[in-house]
Amino acid sequence: MSSKKYLFTDPETGKSVDLPVLSGTVGPEVVDIRALYAEKGVFTYDPGFGSTASCESKITYIDGDQGVLMYRGYPVEQLAEKSSFMEVCYLLLHGELPKKEQLEGFIKTITTHTMINETILRLFNGFHYDAHPMAMVAGVVGSMSAFYHDTTDIMNPRHRDIFAHRIIAKLPTIAAAAYKHTVGQPFTYPRNDLDYCSNMMHMFFAVPAEKYNINPVAAQALDLLFILHADHEQNCSTSTVRLAGSSQTNPYSAIAAGISALWGPAHGGANEAVLQMLEQIRTADKIPQFVARAKDKKDNFRLMGFGHRVYKNYDPRAKIIRSMTHKVLEQLGKNDPLLDVAMRLEEIALKDSYFVEKKLYPNVDFYSGIIYRALGIPTSMLTVMFAIGRTVGWCAHWREMIADPETRIGRPRQLYTGPAFRDYVAVEKR
Ligand code: CMC
Repeated sequence: MSSKKYLFTDPETGKSVDLPVLSGTVGPEVVDIRALYAEKGVFTYDPGFGSTASCESKITYIDGDQGVLMYRGYPVEQLAEKSSFMEVCYLLLHGELPKKEQLEGFIKTITTHTMINETILRLFNGFHYDAHPMAMVAGVVGSMSAFYHDTTDIMNPRHRDIFAHRIIAKLPTIAAAAYKHTVGQPFTYPRNDLDYCSNMMHMFFAVPAEKYNINPVAAQALDLLFILHADHEQNCSTSTVRLAGSSQTNPYSAIAAGISALWGPAHGGANEAVLQMLEQIRTADKIPQFVARAKDKKDNFRLMGFGHRVYKNYDPRAKIIRSMTHKVLEQLGKNDPLLDVAMRLEEIALKDSYFVEKKLYPNVDFYSGIIYRALGIPTSMLTVMFAIGRTVGWCAHWREMIADPETRIGRPRQLYTGPAFRDYVAVEKR
């Protein structure tokens, strides 16, 4: 805690209260307002939590003005270049990069948890053939709380570990089952001789009728995308997991809540919306009319994949994905005209005073869909892919929250503007 204090003075009584100022390792200081209501009887008002630190965390740091993202202090660029998704999972969960044996042990644990209970698999038969994969995945993950009763003592650190291993290992299997349901193919069981991303490609695309050759370029691209999706501090879905988890609910339910929050187009659902938008634009000559619509306050349309609550600079994840998109397409021998449209759109928007003044830059979702598309993953599955990558971040935050002695049930207050008081009127007199 810094010695600095904020003086809050009640304008009516003139009486003041000293609010302590807390300092993190890096980033802005935080005014601790916990005593404000008890001492002064006032709340703070911050819809969307733009000025509110909801918790203390040691996991991820973002400097939105500089375009910096670090997991446990390591810049995401270094992790993207040198690390692997499994190593990043270990780092996020445990706070340190693993030693060789620790990494091997972790990979083995995740690999041996990839299968799901056959009854879970049968749940998919209950979904309509055109159900959105995110609806199926959120529902099925929620249902996992009905299966793993043996390890849901959230106060037991070992149970928390086992939960994290299970959900990280099983989400690709559930995602693949959702995909197979949408295309009407038989479910493909996981192969534990494959690495995390190769196994995912196998479960998505292998069919019993023929041999499926896993393309290592595709598996590597997935691994990199998952590193970039792995965590992003107190974003909407992570805050949802924390808020739901603060009631001490079953962790699978908290993650299902996070998946549901991720689905919205303002959050992770933006990757699907970006591809739909690029498909609508189709040719570069139509870009100006979409940019004009995005600027028109009477039109609800926004440039999807643009803008961010925290980044007022280029999203570092978008920068990495943008440069890898070219490489991946080239290595896969694919040419996607939507990439040209996306690049031209970015160029036009970044020169437009509306986007410049509002500091609206491409975010993580702007280019990721083009890579997923090149890997054969359909547009409706894009947010599910984001969820697979983000699951470890949700787990790390949930674990941190449960272990934090300062955690209390999340319970915001409000500025009430409804009727003050009225007497009940009998129905015949209304
Ligand atoms: N296109 C056009 N105008 C925009 C856009 C956009 N994509 N994003 C923000 N603005 C404008 C907005 O109209 C507002 O203008 P004004 O000040 O004149 O009212 C101003 O910029 C600030 O926007 P905001 O909605 O108050 O900002 P926010 O921090 O509440 O919202 C956002 C952030 C990401 C929801 C928003 O930028 C957006 O809707 N972007 C498109 C959806 C998207 O790409 N979402 C993915 C976010 S990154 C990944 C993730 O979170 O999962």
